[in-house]
Amino acid sequence: MTLKTIRDFDPKGKRVLLRVDFNVPTDDAGNIQDDSRMTKALPTINYLLEKGARLIIMSHLGRPDGKVVENLRLNNVATHLSQLLGKPVKKLNECTGEEVEKASNAMQNGEIIMLENTRFYPGEETNDAEFTKQLAKLGEVFVNDGFGVSHRAHASSYGIATILPAYAGLLVEKEVIALEPLITNPNQPFTVIIGGAKIKDKIALIEQFIPKAQHILIGGGLANTFLAAQGKQVGQSLYEQDKLDLARSLLAKAITLDQIVLPTDVITATEISNTAETQTVSVNAVSPTAKILDIGPDTTDAFKSIIADSQTILWNGPLGLTEFTPFQNGTRETAQAVSELPDSFTVIGGGDTSEILKTLGFPDNKFSHVSTGGGASLEFLSGKKLPGIEALYR
Ligand code: 3PG
Repeated sequence: MTLKTIRDFDPKGKRVLLRVDFNVPTDDAGNIQDDSRMTKALPTINYLLEKGARLIIMSHLGRPDGKVVENLRLNNVATHLSQLLGKPVKKLNECTGEEVEKASNAMQNGEIIMLENTRFYPGEETNDAEFTKQLAKLGEVFVNDGFGVSHRAHASSYGIATILPAYAGLLVEKEVIALEPLITNPNQPFTVIIGGAKIKDKIALIEQFIPKAQHILIGGGLANTFLAAQGKQVGQSLYEQDKLDLARSLLAKAITLDQIVLPTDVITATEISNTAETQTVSVNAVSPTAKILDIGPDTTDAFKSIIADSQTILWNGPLGLTEFTPFQNGTRETAQAVSELPDSFTVIGGGDTSEILKTLGFPDNKFSHVSTGGGASLEFLSGKKLPGIEALYR
């Protein structure tokens, strides 16, 4: 099965319904704080415009739950897209109805319309047949370039593909080309770095990569649960008491004794703040009153030497509580090691990880591929089929 892409049809004069994931982080005033999801969709938008398409762009923003929420309108997003493209983007206040149909029918080649936040409509998340039909009426062809929302079987990311001829945009194609080999045939040695707070969010990922990766390096709050499962004292650290058996069963599945690498030393503190006094201790010597908040220097060195020998790296989740300066070192030094690999294929899976790495001084161009998907890349890498992508195969 091959992915049908925008190179497989002639967009000239066609009204193309383009689903993007412009669910960008914004501040309280609605200002966009990171436009990567927008800039990464520009190749598709420019390609379609250059080929003479009439572009009708759809996106969601936030989780308005089927209701109009004023500060989740796409006005700022449309204005920013217009600035990025140097072209007018006509923002509509609705997604369906007479006015929208009139506007779509009146379009000229190379023009762009942006519909309102698709999640203002209850039919979006339920993939309601009538809502899907109303959307599909607006175009002749559907293009999905919203990789980040492709795990949702929503009307605008999946439903339309069952009505109109459907194609992948260049970003969706790029994500699939980058991520698929990691689960099918990664170049060895392959190292997976997994951090973040909770084990339950990462179980599927760990299980997926035990048969495929030479090493799985574990840090973040997640590591505390593994350490507690090994009977170690974790003091006041965040850990999941009800997941100790699960952690033990994951450790038991490891193919070699050194496949799953846990911290051997950690940074602890009794308070969480930017001025917290820290201690570096062995995982066998954590005080009952302390919290584990980062991996320690010996662990970081062990991670770095494994990374230095890797041909492929996949990283999801921070290794410490990076919101606070005293607990950033493990993640920063690990990022440095990954970004310095000369010829390896390095993938950052998950929007949150990429945002954290950017704040620590590692922009997207320091890595081979930074996925625009959060939940979507986790599900894809866990081996699940994403409805919004499955609909694009022939
Ligand atoms: C994301 O930010 O991961 C995507 O835009 C999907 O958003 P959702 O989790 O609200 O469906």
